[in-house]
Amino acid sequence: MKTRVTVNGAAREAEVEPRMLLVHFIREALTLTGTHIGCDTTSCGACTVLLDGRPVKSCTLFAVQADGREIMTVEGLAQDGKLHPVQEGFHQEHGLQCGFCTPGMLMTSCALLKANPSPSEEEIRWAISGNLCRCTGYVNIVKSVQWAAKQMAAPSS
Ligand code: FES
Ligand code: FES
Repeated sequence: MKTRVTVNGAAREAEVEPRMLLVHFIREALTLTGTHIGCDTTSCGACTVLLDGRPVKSCTLFAVQADGREIMTVEGLAQDGKLHPVQEGFHQEHGLQCGFCTPGMLMTSCALLKANPSPSEEEIRWAISGNLCRCTGYVNIVKSVQWAAKQMAAPSS
């Protein structure tokens, strides 16, 4: 089936089998390999992307369910060679070690800050509770999101 999406602002289309998972469509048909596959069973969140602005685990959907919709992946975060504040926050606060969970963490964090620009620590922990990290212990991830929230709230000079 022909599946058409807008991904990171660009129109893309590909012929896919109806059983193809969205994460495989993103990685294989669209060659956007920044989105990771950690489990394939909706547990780890490494495959999180934004679908029409909302975070989804892309191993949980079929590609055809995204037809006509807008996807944002980690590759779409940086603009004009400048990291997104959430990416910068993970850099500044050491919010990653191996980096495997990071694309999903970034997408979930972006969606959180869009919906709630000033989240409490509890709200951050709740928001990322579907994203597993086996390296960091989460403390620095929370700090990274807090760093980004402050940055995004600051008036731009
Ligand atoms: S690969 Fe999708 S939740 Fe783990
Ligand atoms: S940084 Fe390694 S899994 Fe999160």
